[in-house]
Amino acid sequence: MNSSGYNKMLNLIFSLPEQFELGLNIGFECGLIKPKVIENVVIAGMGGSAIGGDIVRTLSLQTGSLPVIVWRDYRLPQAVSPRTLFFAVSYSGNTEETLAAYREAKRCKSQVIAISSGGRLAQMAKHDGLPLLSVPTGMPPRAAIGLLTIPILVVLSRFGLYPDCKKGIRDTARLLGRRLHNWHKRAQRISRLLDGNLPIVYSTSRLLDVAAYRWQCQLNENAKVMCHIGQLPEQNHNEIMALSSPRFLAQKGVLIGLFDRTTHPRTIFRFRATLNLCKDAFSRFIFVNSEGRSALARLFSVMIIGDLVSVALAKRRGVDPMAIPKIDELKSMLASYRGKR
Ligand code: PA5
Repeated sequence: MNSSGYNKMLNLIFSLPEQFELGLNIGFECGLIKPKVIENVVIAGMGGSAIGGDIVRTLSLQTGSLPVIVWRDYRLPQAVSPRTLFFAVSYSGNTEETLAAYREAKRCKSQVIAISSGGRLAQMAKHDGLPLLSVPTGMPPRAAIGLLTIPILVVLSRFGLYPDCKKGIRDTARLLGRRLHNWHKRAQRISRLLDGNLPIVYSTSRLLDVAAYRWQCQLNENAKVMCHIGQLPEQNHNEIMALSSPRFLAQKGVLIGLFDRTTHPRTIFRFRATLNLCKDAFSRFIFVNSEGRSALARLFSVMIIGDLVSVALAKRRGVDPMAIPKIDELKSMLASYRGKR
């Protein structure tokens, strides 16, 4: 592999602070009419376009804001109604599950907002006269995470459904700007340990569940490796019994524990006890502690180390982090499949 895909993806990760600033502008500058009654928020998307929704849901839980549902399928849940604020998020604008969800939300007369860089979704939103938050084109969707997360937070806060977030967003961008170089060096060291092993990422606080999921998706798509994730304390009630089975997994796991200041002290004890009880499952342990003040900053600090690890591991393995040929091929197979949408 030549290093151009690696450099491109790395540059995109390093562009996150600018994405945050641009995301603020996109969220503040779009013309929106505040809906009269909102009972819930539904964010529909797939893959790299859905994870921003997970971040918003997680942060809303922390602030006690309105319930946020993240939806990754064609058909919508019963909870969608005219009192739903509905975000259809597709970076390419051509993901069929998201387009189907958009159509159904319109049929339900929800208050629909589209987020996209173009494609069918942008066309339909324009045609339907619905608000469209346009993000710049030309990136892999998963690399546009700042652009697909920040505008949703801003819109929710404009509607009074989320606390004022401008300062927290700017502080997070500054933290990323300051720390990215060091995290990159750390990520290169971590990638050495992961090469040829199975990453097992455990989140120890509900703030970081989405970070563990992001680690998994980025290792899958960028580095093209499997990754297993779990949550403590829940893991202690089931999975703890199964580590190192089948036998070929013994000593193949590299355990990555994600920690935040909201991790319960007893969960820290549980983590150590789990390591002791399951020594034969893991060849190495890595601890990643969140940094920063706000929940947004702490979440991104842990998530972005995973992004950097995935890119460093792609380089070690000689694979292109920008390319996702099987996903592309599957999408074109579906495009020519005439079955019901
Ligand atoms: O990161 C990726 O490229 C994928 O996970 C995509 O986000 C996913 O396939 C959905 O496509 P889109 O984001 O364009 O809606």
